[in-house]
Amino acid sequence: MTRLDKYLSKSLGISRKDSKRLVLSGRVRVNGKIVRDPSKKVEGSVQLDGKVIEKPRDKIYIMLNKPSGFVSSTRGDQPTVLDLVDHPRNKELFPAGRLDKDAKGLIILTNDGNFAHLVTSPKKHVEKEYEVVIDGRSENAMKLLNGIKLRDGYLTKATRVEILDGKTVRIVVTEGKYHQIKRMMAAVGLKVKELKRIRIGGLTLDVEEGKWRELTKEDLKKILSGHDRSA
Ligand code: URA
Repeated sequence: MTRLDKYLSKSLGISRKDSKRLVLSGRVRVNGKIVRDPSKKVEGSVQLDGKVIEKPRDKIYIMLNKPSGFVSSTRGDQPTVLDLVDHPRNKELFPAGRLDKDAKGLIILTNDGNFAHLVTSPKKHVEKEYEVVIDGRSENAMKLLNGIKLRDGYLTKATRVEILDGKTVRIVVTEGKYHQIKRMMAAVGLKVKELKRIRIGGLTLDVEEGKWRELTKEDLKKILSGHDRSA
């Protein structure tokens, strides 16, 4: 059981001091009764000004459709992905896998380090699908299916390549190496003009650019079920 002040501060994303004040002011009810003791252990329904306050979730998972121009880090001088997410517990979040500043699309933000590791570790083979606008002969991208050595000697390959038109290809990889798509494309003579991640595992991007939503339990299952079984 959680203390009332902790419950409120976690659920509402406010400080412990502010949640204590709320309780002392008599605006908080537990199971219908006003409770003025911040240390009271709570079970059941908690209400603030008559509105039910959901139980705090320890772990937070968010899908963001990142526009270009934002960096995938938590602080710095440049605009970060966190600037786009007005979640009350924003400060706990970090990106599970990066997108370059000029790249767009699906990025997951979480406060769950184990989950982030599962999604990003090359050993876990969670698929990532990108839509790439390229400069050059799109057919060359097909060569990536046979595997290619990047400049640092790392051997990588695409598990699927689809040419959408003369300048756009869809490509699926299961690792998350630094600048991986740009480096793979460069290795077959193609320059990346636009890069958008549209899927991680079985989870497809479904919010508009610049928008975010919390992931459901089903979404989380989908992410980890999208493994590349051929790897
Ligand atoms: N590959 C890249 O080159 N950049 C990204 O942002 C993601 C994958």
